[in-house]
Amino acid sequence: MRQIYLDYNATTPIAPSVREAMQPFFVEHFGNPSSSHILGRACLESLEDARSQVASLLGADVDEIIFTSGGTESNNLAILGTLFRNAPILDGHLIISNLEHPAVTAPAEYAAKWGIDVTIVECGPDGVVSVESFAEALRPDTRLVSIMHANNELGTIQPIREIGELCRSRDIVFHTDAAQSAGKIPTNVDELQVDLLSIAGHKLYAPKGVGALYVRRDVAIDPVLHGAGHEMGLRPGTENVPYIVGLGRAAKLAHVGLDENAARMGQLRDRLWNKLHSGSDNAIVQNVAAVECLPNTLSARFPNVSAAEMLQRHSDLCASTASACHSGDIAVSPTLAAIGLDAEQARGVMRLSVGRYTTETEVDQAAELLLEAWESLRR
Ligand SMILES: Cc1ncc(COP(=O)(O)O)c(C=O)c1O
Repeated sequence: MRQIYLDYNATTPIAPSVREAMQPFFVEHFGNPSSSHILGRACLESLEDARSQVASLLGADVDEIIFTSGGTESNNLAILGTLFRNAPILDGHLIISNLEHPAVTAPAEYAAKWGIDVTIVECGPDGVVSVESFAEALRPDTRLVSIMHANNELGTIQPIREIGELCRSRDIVFHTDAAQSAGKIPTNVDELQVDLLSIAGHKLYAPKGVGALYVRRDVAIDPVLHGAGHEMGLRPGTENVPYIVGLGRAAKLAHVGLDENAARMGQLRDRLWNKLHSGSDNAIVQNVAAVECLPNTLSARFPNVSAAEMLQRHSDLCASTASACHSGDIAVSPTLAAIGLDAEQARGVMRLSVGRYTTETEVDQAAELLLEAWESLRR
């Protein structure tokens, strides 16, 4: 049997038309976009086309898009670029949530070492940060807020617009990590009321190692890397033209088919869920059932088994477990701990994320394999 890939939140394959768009930039269009001759100019034009495609996906202007090496770098640039702007005076307050990816928590921890005070707002058991608990964390010296748009493990969507409105009314810079949401649900920066927004190419059918940061025109950040003046002085280094072209094409693909794709993802995800739930006499449960989630993501809990062992039985089925086992001890992922799961519950959690190339047949086969593994292991 061919592998069944239900791990699109980990990474996506490169879309064929993205690959095609990138190809000439590995061969004939090899110029440096900073060169003024014909080969350089051709690359610059393609780079700017890609910028405009990414800007369209986000409802931004072209001069508000900075290309980076991916979600991690975009988050670092947003957080450290904002907080270190008034160096050497490093003070003030940063708010993040306990759902954030390490690409946000690690720069926040780094900023804390330099004197920034960090508050971590806790989500509820539904995997959503409430606007009320967020508002309570605000302080007169809050300089930056970074709350993710959609969580990578649970798929829960955060109240970004409401948080953005609160930040705007107090002149606080607001960043959102949209690595998981871009291409799956609308990510219009004005609707979301954000100042900074990160995307990662490999979550939306472009290659790994490319991403972008949206920087609202009136928001000033410092570069994190220092060098020449590329990317409006915010990200030095000769641009990775083939990958950026790929990201542009992927953004265009995502933008054009957004609603249709989201509806299709939702149907596949629900189909998978219904089969698991009914096939287990309702024993298999969803971790966050009653809230708005990414249409492609199902965080399921298989009782009395290890989800990792279930996947080991079927090496042709690719999905994620959120807990890692180190010498017999189960380490609960911070996200599952945030929604209140204990080690035993977390042991049975599996993230199943469908994508553009998932078929109904694959979903049906996956449900059968999972039910079979669960039945035999729980005995
Ligand atoms: C929510 C979120 N943010 C950031 C990242 C990091 O992106 P990248 O792998 O492009 O550095 C990921 C990737 O797993 C993610 O899921």
